[in-house]
Amino acid sequence: MRSFAGRRSRRRRPASTRGSFPTDELRRTLRWLRACVEQTFDQGDGMGKVVVFSNQKGGVGKSTLAVLYAFWQREVQQRTVCLIDLDTQGNASKTLRAHAGGLRAIDLFAPENTEVGQAIGAGAAVPPQMPEGLALAAASKDLADVELARPELAIPAFRRRVWDLRSRFEVVVIDTPPALGLRMSASLIAATDVVCPIELEEYSIDGVTDMLKTVFGVRQRYNPELNLAGIVLNRFNPHSVRQKAAMRELAQSFGEFVIPAHISTRSAIPEALAQGLPVWALTKSSARDACLEVKDVFTLLQQRMDARGTALAEVSP
Ligand SMILES: Nc1ncnc2c1ncn2[C@@H]1O[C@H](COP(=O)(O)OP(=O)(O)OP(=O)(O)O)[C@@H](O)[C@H]1O
Ligand SMILES: [Mg+2]
Repeated sequence: MRSFAGRRSRRRRPASTRGSFPTDELRRTLRWLRACVEQTFDQGDGMGKVVVFSNQKGGVGKSTLAVLYAFWQREVQQRTVCLIDLDTQGNASKTLRAHAGGLRAIDLFAPENTEVGQAIGAGAAVPPQMPEGLALAAASKDLADVELARPELAIPAFRRRVWDLRSRFEVVVIDTPPALGLRMSASLIAATDVVCPIELEEYSIDGVTDMLKTVFGVRQRYNPELNLAGIVLNRFNPHSVRQKAAMRELAQSFGEFVIPAHISTRSAIPEALAQGLPVWALTKSSARDACLEVKDVFTLLQQRMDARGTALAEVSP
């Protein structure tokens, strides 16, 4: 299948607009989208959740937690799950390669008037309910092209496809790249819940502030359904003086958003994921503590999601 983004000029954006969010073009598009999106909110009744793992900071555990959460929903909660991997690095896709059903994440952005868009619209390549009930919309290198696509076409197309998946799977999980670009905006506009993993260090508060501003902005303007499920402390070390100081600062600023549990640095986690397995599938004793922490965090997250827990609307970061 041909990449839809290939139809568009591959001219790079001027350096002055790269990395800024939203760009003028994106801002105009999002304004227009707001009108479209508002007309379709009532379509979500009775459909599954769309949970996005997002933080513009790199290496904080988005992919790790997104994959573990997908496994947890499937194996512990017995729900059907589709994971969409929007990161060109494809880490989540590598772990879930056994669950690939032919759908590429990039195709979810294809406008309806393209060859790919029509094939997807007709149901082609949409992952079947795999026997295991866990399907993957896989990453590919050309996902980076999405950032050059026309937002007014790509974002509504993505949202419609995600909502289609939402009617087929009980949970849709989205792993996002570490950048405030079109893929992250589209994910937040299509989502019901956002989880923000962080690693406590000197600048983590800045990252959380930026992320909450983005979530708050998307919720205010484009997606009132969006719920901040919580900030998850990953690779937490309770013995680190630096982390404890950062923890105090985080609690002061964003206490109510922080999930009151943590996941430590556990070698069993990457070890299991490298084998395409959740950490609780490993029998070694070092996996046991990791497993307890992960399940504890996800249980608390789920309780918040079910209760529509954190009232983001009451806060303006
Ligand atoms: N709790 C943990 N214990 C041990 N290793 C971890 C843990 N969480 C994440 N890692 C490791 O840290 C690295 C970064 O994690 P991951 O790729 O999930 O972060 P990310 O936020 O998705 O990164 P990126 O922004 O580049 O997409 C990986 O090598 C992963 O295996
Ligand atoms: Mg990642």
